Amino acid sequence: MINALRGMKDITFEESQRFTYIIKTAIEVSKRYGYSYIETPLLEETKLFKRSVGESSDIVGKEMYQFIDKGNNDVCLRPEGTAGVVRAYVQTKLDRRPRKDRFYYYGAMFRYEKPQKGRLREFHQFGCESFGESSVYEDFEIILMIRDIFDRLGIGYKLQINSLGCSSCMPTYRDNLVSFLDNIKDELCSDCNRRVETNPIRVLDCKNEKCQSMLEKSPKLINNLCDECSSDFDTLKSLLDSAKLEYEVDTNLVRGLDYYNKSAFEFVSDNIGSQSAIAGGGRYDKLVEYLDGKPTPAVGFALGIERILELVEMPIDSRDGVYIGAMVDGITDRLFEIASSIRKTTKAKIEYDKKSLKAHLKNSDKINAKYCIVVGEDELKDNKIWVKNLDNKEQQIISLNEFLVEV
Ligand code: HAM
Repeated sequence: MINALRGMKDITFEESQRFTYIIKTAIEVSKRYGYSYIETPLLEETKLFKRSVGESSDIVGKEMYQFIDKGNNDVCLRPEGTAGVVRAYVQTKLDRRPRKDRFYYYGAMFRYEKPQKGRLREFHQFGCESFGESSVYEDFEIILMIRDIFDRLGIGYKLQINSLGCSSCMPTYRDNLVSFLDNIKDELCSDCNRRVETNPIRVLDCKNEKCQSMLEKSPKLINNLCDECSSDFDTLKSLLDSAKLEYEVDTNLVRGLDYYNKSAFEFVSDNIGSQSAIAGGGRYDKLVEYLDGKPTPAVGFALGIERILELVEMPIDSRDGVYIGAMVDGITDRLFEIASSIRKTTKAKIEYDKKSLKAHLKNSDKINAKYCIVVGEDELKDNKIWVKNLDNKEQQIISLNEFLVEV
């Protein structure tokens, strides 16, 4: 037997209904905020992610599905969606004209991580990217949009925010942090020691308890922001306060991708175990430039669909559609005729095998149909159908046309 690869899974039946329900809900909300759909390839040049997500990040350093294709190109399966959207934005020259563009996307992402609950090697994201708006109001709007999605899905969450500063305040802070880290280097884990050299900010994010306790006294970027970053962060906090959206400032929230500046945020859930981030994002004002576009401010986020799947319950559906069953053999043509008339307005499912009325009613209930139609010898002879409305339990023998009028 051939199984799916480790860390990859099939999504079927009831789970696939919840999966599409999450995406459908996120699309509906993002369209209301003016986002339009963008589809980008699953496979991109490896250098796209090296330049955007960052060579020192775990995602690029350890987790890429990277290979040389038959044309000798160094390619990889996308580990996230932002880089591809920015590439498309620059490639189609959208950066050359003064307009604001907002895109949403969803699909599979690939990271060669150690699989565990909530952490897959192939997982799905729904994401949004907004280009051309530097105002912190856009960051706020993006956070509001995620709240709207989660509220509609009936999911509880905690919001964590931080500011990662900008090219004027971050470098000085980084130097201060490195001096601090150099003094406690011997106490830090090997990962942190490596990161001091490659990407010192990520040390703040270490999950090792000893490292975290050593970092308690570390300089905090939030206390060293330049005037503009500080004022933007204050505005964001007061906007969240006025929207009554609770948040926690987490000075160690640095995100695992290198392209962020200013606002960074994560939505976490207490109900899905250690992989608790259900959405993450922030501002990335330099990325369009890094990918050879014109300077364009940008902000975005992505939701992790599999993690949200754990939290979502499907709304109880009202009964819908028609079940059509045979009570005698050899009436397939008649059942087809009934189904194709009904399918012009609503959905219809045919059961070809002859069954008892009780079995047909049970089947209709299983698929949550609103009507159960059966055809037996009498109905066939009189050119009628037997119908039961499973909502109000009324049953009648009528012509197909009479039924179509009722539906
Ligand atoms: P990210 O935080 O790496 O951000 O991923 C976003 C979400 O994807 C996470 O919060 C989590 O729910 C889900 N996720 C990540 N890795 C896995 C995994 N191995 N298994 C299951 N779910 C996972 C980004 O990817 C950025 N591109 C978000 C963004 C868009 N920032 C700006 N624009």
